[in-house]
Amino acid sequence: AFERALRPKRLAEYIGQPKVREQLDLFIQAARRRGEALDHVLLFGPPGLGKTTLAHIIAGEMGVGLKQTSGPVLERPGDLAAILTNLEPNDVLFIDEIHRLSPVIEEILYPAMEDYQIDIMIGEGPAARSIKLDLAPFTLVGATTRAGMLTNPLRDRFGIVARLEFYAPEDLAHIVRRSAQLLDVRIDEAGALEIARRARGTPRIANRLLRRVRDFAEVRAAGAITAEIADRALALLDVDPLGLDLMDRKLLSAVIEKFAGGPVGLDNLAAAIGESADTIEDVLEPYLIQQGYLQRTPRGRIATPAVYAHLGLKAPPRPETAL
Ligand code: ADE
Repeated sequence: AFERALRPKRLAEYIGQPKVREQLDLFIQAARRRGEALDHVLLFGPPGLGKTTLAHIIAGEMGVGLKQTSGPVLERPGDLAAILTNLEPNDVLFIDEIHRLSPVIEEILYPAMEDYQIDIMIGEGPAARSIKLDLAPFTLVGATTRAGMLTNPLRDRFGIVARLEFYAPEDLAHIVRRSAQLLDVRIDEAGALEIARRARGTPRIANRLLRRVRDFAEVRAAGAITAEIADRALALLDVDPLGLDLMDRKLLSAVIEKFAGGPVGLDNLAAAIGESADTIEDVLEPYLIQQGYLQRTPRGRIATPAVYAHLGLKAPPRPETAL
């Protein structure tokens, strides 16, 4: 069973994100009653929180088909036109990484989203002409890690904007128990909660840790997952008691040891740990900021006092108080 097999297919099976779930449920019911396409939906939030899953659930609940693509793979206008003209009425078009669309592709999307029409150029040179094509009504579901990376005109064309938050440990434990059942592995409450607490608020990580802890339980124990088994397996995986992994700790110790606790600019930090600035912004720091280990200030990133204790480092000198 791969990740796809663990994904819920209906809204009722989807755990967590109560606000998003209630809103989508309402808007989907309304669109269905009117027999219309659901308004365009923008899903944003850190990787692994369920944006792709929700896109598929939306199509499932609307009872329509789904076509999937992503910002970087749409290179030429014809690529997008081919997909748009092949949609059935009220279908979902899911565009992942929608912040990485090229400007020419975005231009085609505007009239497609607003009026279900596209203007495409045919031919070249003096004989070139623009023709208008009518499209079937459709729902664009766009996913991005940061809404701030979209252009304003694109963001303004989404009628529904849903921000996914990190999951609470109880919700993640619920997801872990559900996945364990689908994977046919025995797990007790404490075992599920231990994996959940150390999964960075992220279902994709929780499910990955569950598979690795299952491997450990099968080879080093009797196969069932308890808190103790989970703890030993996670220690082997270098996932610490707070759920921080090697990269998280590398980032935090760099801020402290190479930049005296900060503030340090993003590009300097990226160079110091050998990661791209994008990976730091999209993948690493959202959880560290949400948990209060890292702060983003106008002058750069700062490690908070909680981090020093956690990493076993001497507390930072108190800042001089200006008199
Ligand atoms: N698997 C991954 N994410 C999930 C979620 N939000 N609810 C249920 N199962 C999931």
